[in-house]
Amino acid sequence: MSAAARESLPASFSDIDRSSEELKGHVIEYLSGTASNPEIRRMRATAFQLFAATEGERLLDAGCGLGEVARHLGSVVGPRGSVVALDHSADVISAAHARHDGGPVTYVVGDVTALDFPDDHFDGVRSERVLQHLADPAAAIAELVRVTRPGGRVCVIDTDWPSLTHDGFAHLDDPSVRSSSLLGSTAGRIARSLMVKAGLRGVTASPVTVCFTSPSDAATVLPFFDPQQAKAVDFIPDPLLKSFFDSVDRAAERGDFLVAFTMWVSLGRKGEEGG
Ligand SMILES: C[S@@+](CC[C@H](N)C(=O)[O-])C[C@H]1O[C@@H](n2cnc3c(N)ncnc32)[C@H](O)[C@@H]1O
Repeated sequence: MSAAARESLPASFSDIDRSSEELKGHVIEYLSGTASNPEIRRMRATAFQLFAATEGERLLDAGCGLGEVARHLGSVVGPRGSVVALDHSADVISAAHARHDGGPVTYVVGDVTALDFPDDHFDGVRSERVLQHLADPAAAIAELVRVTRPGGRVCVIDTDWPSLTHDGFAHLDDPSVRSSSLLGSTAGRIARSLMVKAGLRGVTASPVTVCFTSPSDAATVLPFFDPQQAKAVDFIPDPLLKSFFDSVDRAAERGDFLVAFTMWVSLGRKGEEGG
């Protein structure tokens, strides 16, 4: 693997703290832009509805990023409830804490595959766009189930990257792009089966296809559409970059740019007897 690939933005999500300061800056900027994207908000609205948080609950968002979701959940559970916003990266947790709004949210550094909470601790746990960055996603699901109380719910949201489809511009189907590790991740589609195998009951899987019709809109979620970030993302190989952006610009001018992919919201309950 080249030094550039090791420093790529998607790869850095497994270990942000060891990335260069420049790349950390890209990560924070990326997470902030993603949270405000209307398509991501639409997907999250589906997830909030299924998760159905209520006043007074004790919740966990594992791999919380900048903590927008944890703060939203904090506003739902209110002062009698609590939300833990947990992330592997101390730098991300520090940026999340800086955005604290005074709600019942605590920010902690931790690993979703080895959670430092007792069994049966939370009424509900969630994890969004984290599985795809883990070497052992089943270990994360096992931990999320362990810390959930009997009858509580586990919600996992992730992307099915092979579903990425596009129109109006070139190169997303080139073998050198399709073979990137990012586009190989099926985390979204396999989450349900991992949750069933972990013993959760009544596991539902709800697909939400997100669609972007301008490069600037797409870039807040797919940073390789941002000419400033494309090199850091290291997703479109260098020799194709100019031709890729030329074709993207032409699609934007014509108004026929389109890119879409499917995210899955999977939700299950821990059995009352704990299984
Ligand atoms: C793509 S971001 C998603 C952040 C947030 N859930 C969102 O949807 O905006 C992936 C996050 O997972 C975190 N992460 C990666 N590995 C982790 C682990 N083993 N335990 C906890 N968090 C992890 C990263 O630090 C990063 O903040």
